[in-house]
Amino acid sequence: MKNQEPSWVKEAIQPYVLSIPPYIPGKPVAEVERELGIKKAIKLASNENALGPSSLAIKAMRKQIVGAHIYPESSAPDLRLGISRKNGVDPDNVILGNGSDEIMQMLAHVFLSAPDEAIIAENSFSMYRIVTRLYGAKPVFIPLKKYHLDLDATLAAVTDRTRLIFLASPNSPTGTVISKNELSDFLDRLGEKRVVTVFDEAYAEYVNSPDAANGLNYISEPSPVIVLRTFSKIYGLAGLRVGYGLAQSWLIDLLNRVRAPFNVNLVAQAAAAAALHDDEHVQRSLRMNLEGMKYLSSELESLGFEVIPSQANFLTFAPTTDAGFIYEELLKKGMIVRRLASFGMPDHIRITVGTPSQNKTFVKKLTSILKGRR
Ligand SMILES: Cc1ncc(COP(=O)(O)O)c(C=O)c1O
Repeated sequence: MKNQEPSWVKEAIQPYVLSIPPYIPGKPVAEVERELGIKKAIKLASNENALGPSSLAIKAMRKQIVGAHIYPESSAPDLRLGISRKNGVDPDNVILGNGSDEIMQMLAHVFLSAPDEAIIAENSFSMYRIVTRLYGAKPVFIPLKKYHLDLDATLAAVTDRTRLIFLASPNSPTGTVISKNELSDFLDRLGEKRVVTVFDEAYAEYVNSPDAANGLNYISEPSPVIVLRTFSKIYGLAGLRVGYGLAQSWLIDLLNRVRAPFNVNLVAQAAAAAALHDDEHVQRSLRMNLEGMKYLSSELESLGFEVIPSQANFLTFAPTTDAGFIYEELLKKGMIVRRLASFGMPDHIRITVGTPSQNKTFVKKLTSILKGRR
């Protein structure tokens, strides 16, 4: 049942709240099964790791559950230490978030209010625009150039009001990366402007191009950079919500001022710390991804679809028939992929690389939809 708000509410709220676009997630499996009355729907829509969590993480979670009546250590020292060692930085250079989404929100909280601006690629992760509007600031959108972030146009859009620049590498939904040369040149030209660059590397572990920039090499540049990473993708812990940021300690200090206490829960802290040590799980995930990527690309290309080469764990393609139709038909068959209309790419679909059998099922269902259309 919906309740009617009192008449004064619209005047009482911050004026920009109603302009905040809702986040549109990939459709959950349970919802699709309920709506269609089917079982065994497959979700390849949110770039999760189809192999699941590492066994070390599962063991660590089990161990922690019995202590769930006690608050966790708010600063998560063990997990921060693990992350700092893995990345060759000091624990003071690490902040944790309830997903890297939360760190984006902390950045917006610290740096943005009206009439500030944040620069965002037009076809990129939707949380950038959401957190920008959440603090009354203005997103300034930059079109992609051949599916890549356009760093020249990004620089040209910097004004005295710019406070944050969001760059995703690999970018979602295109899977394209920013090269070392591009990022060095960008930061040199940005110089000492009063801007923080948010370099979002949610898919960093999947990248195999030797030319791709590793954001970590840039956090000591004069122009401040914060690198965002997550346990939601290759580490297979999306449901626990753990992300982290790597930056100079003064920036981490500022973010800690707006961080909610205990923002990463006890079980999540333990699981993430254990997952960091599970190289075998990471390597297995990488192998599965590489094989799945090759298989899906060649199948989609053989159907005549345009496929954007990806450095992440997903592929974006443009079908030769209406993308909306293909998406809906796949959904009816219990195959959940991502329509990209809300990413500004209505003619494209994104699919997460799944297990070999999930990938095959997808190709089978897609082929039967296309045959039925002829
Ligand atoms: C580019 C990008 N950044 C960040 C995230 C969110 O990560 P987290 O689960 O850590 O909030 C995603 C999730 O899909 C993403 O695609």
